[in-house]
Amino acid sequence: MLRIALTKGRLEKNAAELFEKAGYDVSDLSDKEKKGRKLLFELKNAGISIVLAKAADVITYVEHGVCDMGITGKDTIMETGRSFYEVLDLKFGKCRFALAGMNTAESRENFYGGYSRKIIATKYPNVTKKYSDEKGFDAEIVKIEGSVELAPILNLAGAIVDIVETGSTLKENGLEIYEEIAQVSARVIVNRASIKLKKTEVNDFIKKISGAIPVTE
Ligand code: PRP
Repeated sequence: MLRIALTKGRLEKNAAELFEKAGYDVSDLSDKEKKGRKLLFELKNAGISIVLAKAADVITYVEHGVCDMGITGKDTIMETGRSFYEVLDLKFGKCRFALAGMNTAESRENFYGGYSRKIIATKYPNVTKKYSDEKGFDAEIVKIEGSVELAPILNLAGAIVDIVETGSTLKENGLEIYEEIAQVSARVIVNRASIKLKKTEVNDFIKKISGAIPVTE
């Protein structure tokens, strides 16, 4: 039996579609009525169980070996990832990590100019720290849990580091991208022991899923 942790929310629908295309029976997962508030599912006749979890918890479950594999965003992997194998880019859930701020020349000047510390608000302090260090910013990082775009509007920070998908949230709140940091998409991760102990099952799953990933480029 292979247990796979799947990130709840944005990635869930795309993942279910991919599983179906790969030949798995996802009826329990994709039927809203049947699904209800359940967190555990089976891909019938495939020896695979799916657990639905928050992105960072997908990594925790895979690292601890209670799930053999996981599907989560590269953003969460960059922020929290440590000891597991990242084996496949699923090419959905595409977005970018970006440094953004208010869309006025004055705001940009205030952020980049002068010698004062740059205050950056983010849900991703580790990614922000790494980027700030690479850029040589003298930065103070403020952790925010969501709706990070509010921080420059409220004058808490000169800029934010966040994920941008369509760009609508930035635009509708008077912000713009200052710098692009990295491309992000959904990835498959595997527990270090499972990749050896369940080699056949893990490879079979990866092979089926790889074959179902749409060719985009
Ligand atoms: C994410 C992200 C941005 C928004 C970007 O937030 O933090 O706010 O989506 O998407 P867009 O470029 O398509 O507008 P999410 O919706 O996950 O909610 P949160 O702010 O509460 O974390």
